[in-house]
Amino acid sequence: MKTSRRSFLAASAAFSAPFLFPSAFAGSVRRFAANEKVNVGVIGIGRISTTMDIPLAIKYTDLCRFTAVCDLDSKRLKHGVEYVKSRYRKLLKEENAAVKAFADYHDLLADPSIDAVEICLPDHWHALVACAALAAGKHVWLQKPFAQTITEGRLIANIAKMKRRVVQVGSWQRSVEQFHRVCELVRNGRIGDIRRVEVGIGLDKAGGSSKAEPVPENLNYDMWLGPTPGADVTPYNWTRVHTQNLKRIGDRPGWIQMAPYGWGMITNWGAHHIDIAQWGLGKDASGPESVSGTCEWMDTSGGRLWNVHTTYDLHYSYNGGKTELHVCNKFPMGVKFIGEKGEWLYCMRGAVKVTPSDPDVPANGKMQPLMASKNRLLEKIANPKIPLATSGDHWKNWLEAIRKDDPSFTVTNAEAAQRSSTACCLGQMCMELGRGKKEGASVSWCAAEEKPGSEEAKKLMKPFARGKYNLPDELRRYGLNFESVLKG
Ligand SMILES: NC(=O)c1ccc[n+]([C@@H]2O[C@H](COP(=O)([O-])OP(=O)(O)OC[C@H]3O[C@@H](n4cnc5c(N)ncnc54)[C@H](O)[C@@H]3O)[C@@H](O)[C@H]2O)c1
Repeated sequence: MKTSRRSFLAASAAFSAPFLFPSAFAGSVRRFAANEKVNVGVIGIGRISTTMDIPLAIKYTDLCRFTAVCDLDSKRLKHGVEYVKSRYRKLLKEENAAVKAFADYHDLLADPSIDAVEICLPDHWHALVACAALAAGKHVWLQKPFAQTITEGRLIANIAKMKRRVVQVGSWQRSVEQFHRVCELVRNGRIGDIRRVEVGIGLDKAGGSSKAEPVPENLNYDMWLGPTPGADVTPYNWTRVHTQNLKRIGDRPGWIQMAPYGWGMITNWGAHHIDIAQWGLGKDASGPESVSGTCEWMDTSGGRLWNVHTTYDLHYSYNGGKTELHVCNKFPMGVKFIGEKGEWLYCMRGAVKVTPSDPDVPANGKMQPLMASKNRLLEKIANPKIPLATSGDHWKNWLEAIRKDDPSFTVTNAEAAQRSSTACCLGQMCMELGRGKKEGASVSWCAAEEKPGSEEAKKLMKPFARGKYNLPDELRRYGLNFESVLKG
C-alpha cells in the first residue's frame, strides 16, 4: 500500500498521542434552556451527510446549530465547511457562519462546545467513532447499519446506556407514516398472530476496479482503511473508497458493495426493512432464534472489485418456530406481514428515493407504500393497546430527545437498533458460513444471552482491529475498559 508521508504522520499522531480524554467533559449532561440550541458536529462529509443528514437537521434552526465538520479527505472537509456556510446563508442570511474543521474526529470530540455528533461514515468505522463519541459524552446520530459486527453493536449500546446519552440510528423508516401504521396494526393484532414476514431488500450489482492507482494527496487512506483486516496491503482504487469529483459526492460510494467495509444489502437495506420486521414483531429487546439459507456472491473476474452477496434466500425463525421471517431477493422491496388466516399488511417506500443512486426502487409509482389483502385492514386504531413510539421526522426526533434529555424518546434508539442490527448480522454470518456450500448454512442464536450456537459463528461476531485502530485502545483513551463495557 502506498501511503503519503503526510497522511501517515497525520494518522500516527492521531492514534499514538499519549492523550487521555479529560473524564470531566464526559460526565454531566447539558440541560438546554428553552432558547438554547444543540451544537452539532458532523463526522464524514460524503453522500449521506450532504444529501440527508446535514440538510434535514440544520433546517431546525430553532433546535440546533451546526458548528463543526470532520473528514479525513481534506477536499471533502473543505467542501463540508462551505456546505454548512451555504446552508446558513440560505436559512438565516448569515454571510460567513463560523464552522470549525477537523481532520481527526478525536479533536472534534475533545471540543467541549459540541453537544452532539452526526456520524456519517462507512460502516467499518461506525463502532470506533460511535463508542468514542458516547464515551466523550456526546449525543449521537449514527447512520445505519448500527454496527458491522454484533459485539461492536453491544459495545455502542452499553456505552450509550452507561453515559445516558441520546442515540438515533439512521433507520429512519420508523419515522414514516406507512411503516409506523403497519407495525402498530400488526402489534395490536389486526391480522392475528403473525405466521410469516416477507422482506425484499434489493440487489447490488457487480463492478469497481482492482487496478492500483496513486493515493490522492488529500486522502488519509491508511486511516480510511482503519480497522479492516488486510488493510496494510490493500491497493488504492477510487472505486474502493469514494469519488474524488465533488460534483458527484451524492453518488453511491464503491465501498458499500465491498466487504469488509460493508456487507452488502443484508446489512445495508436490511437495516431498513429487517428493522421494520423486528419492530412489527415486537422484538426490540430480543430477536430470532435461528437463520438458515443460501446466497450467491458477486463475480469478481476481470479485475472487478466489488465482492458482496447478490441473490439471497434466508429463513429466520422467531417465537419458537411459529413465525418465519423470509428474506429473499424475489420479494419486492418492503415488508409484508402475513397473519394466521392469510390476511396481510404491506409497507414500503413507494416511489420515494432517498438518494438519487438508490438501487432497485420502483420509480413508476405502481407499488403503493401501504397495501393490504383488504383495504379495511388498513384503518387506524384510535386508541391502540400497544402504541408504538411516534415521530413524524427522524432528525427532529433526535434533536428533541437531546433537548428533553430523554434517551428513550428516539424511535430508533441504541438498544432497538442493536437488536435489528443483530438480525442483519446473523444473516450475513449465515451467508459467510455457507460460502462454497450448495446447501448453505444455518446459525442458531440465543437472544437473551446474545450468543450463537457454534464457535465458528462466535468468531464472526468479533470487532475488527488493525494496529492502532482497535476498540480496546479507543475505549482506554476515554477511561473505559473493553471487557467491563461488554459485560454492561
Ligand atoms: N439511512 C439511509 O437511508 C442511508 C442511505 C445511504 C447510506 N447510509 C449510510 O451512511 C453512511 C455513510 O455513507 P455515504 O454513502 O455517505 O459514504 P461516503 O463514502 O460517501 O462518505 C463517507 C465519508 O466519511 C469519510 N470518512 C471515512 N472514515 C473517516 C474517519 N475515520 N474520520 C473522518 N471521516 C471519515 C470519508 O472520507 C467520506 O467523505 C454509511 O454507513 C451508509 O450505510 C444511510
